[in-house]
Amino acid sequence: MSLRKPGGAVLVTGAAGYIGSHTVLALLREGHAVIALDDYSNAQRDVPTRVARLCAGDVQWVEADVRDQATVEAVLASQGVEAVIHFAARKSVEESCRLPLAYYDSNLIGTLRLLAAMEVSGVRRLVFSSSATVYDASQPSPVTETGRLSCASPYGRSKLMAEQIISDVVNSGRLDCVALRYFNPVGADASGKLGEDAATPPSNLMPRICLAAAGKSDPLQIFGNDYDTPDGTGVRDYVHVADVADAHVAALRYLAAGHGSAMLNIGTGCGTSVLQLLRTFTEVTGVDVPYTIEARRQGDVASLFADVSEARRMLDWSARRGLAEMCADAWRWARPDGDRALG
Ligand code: UFG
Repeated sequence: MSLRKPGGAVLVTGAAGYIGSHTVLALLREGHAVIALDDYSNAQRDVPTRVARLCAGDVQWVEADVRDQATVEAVLASQGVEAVIHFAARKSVEESCRLPLAYYDSNLIGTLRLLAAMEVSGVRRLVFSSSATVYDASQPSPVTETGRLSCASPYGRSKLMAEQIISDVVNSGRLDCVALRYFNPVGADASGKLGEDAATPPSNLMPRICLAAAGKSDPLQIFGNDYDTPDGTGVRDYVHVADVADAHVAALRYLAAGHGSAMLNIGTGCGTSVLQLLRTFTEVTGVDVPYTIEARRQGDVASLFADVSEARRMLDWSARRGLAEMCADAWRWARPDGDRALG
């Protein structure tokens, strides 16, 4: 590990979640001091131990809900926090259609209270976890940051509304924010000791591939092979979670340099179909994934991938890990005889 960075700590909300935990690890490996906040409503309690095994950095875990403004204010005041990375949110498109109020409560009220706590405490640097779901997916890819916006779910709208609230605070001169719109984060830390482990069953493709490959679920259901794509299956922009984590470190650097605010796509810029991903997974792991072809999933679109030139230009960041590495790392974490045991 490098020496501790001069200056204050970074508060990470939703720190035990999938992208949050990999970002905490990336920050520690870069020598940042971290205050890691989570309420464990959709994360595993062994994440702090896993992170500690991988990097002996300066991290303090706090169990709290980000909507608990008094606690967040106390953390910000007592620890000399210089920047916040805000992940804490609900993230299932399907669940958000059933429980819209819960989504607006967690994702909007959570963001509002955090912003209020930051204002009270005089902390003015924020990295916000947003999503490509804010884009109108019917437009042609690659999608730039100025692409048409439109959300098909309460989850998506909660992210877009949060972006808009943040943007109003930025325009008031009280905040600098880099909002990162992730496309499809997948994979795990290369150690096999940290990966995606939500409390709720996964609905995304890569964790479902791993479950089917491990024989822990029915065959993978491929939702549609009649899209207007080269092989008929949906095309997305898969990006390694460690690259996504590195983008947050780069965003902090950008804010610390006083460059102001930005809204950036985080992906590889490459479109990959479901069948291509499956083929790569089998080539890399040697494991066949049983699958069936099913009807299209409601709300899915044919193709969505990013134009990533702005992130490269503004953050000097681009994804370094390819599809093979995404599959190998996802499987090292997920396979039944894998390396995840803490021992
Ligand atoms: N897919 C399957 N079978 C599955 C799961 C997914 O065939 O069991 C297909 C989907 O139809 C799609 C592709 O795999 O073509 C990727 O699906 P994911 O669910 O992994 O990802 P999405 O692109 O649908 O969703 C992601 C994020 C959401 C976000 C959305 C829009 O997970 O949070 O992008 O940007 F809202």
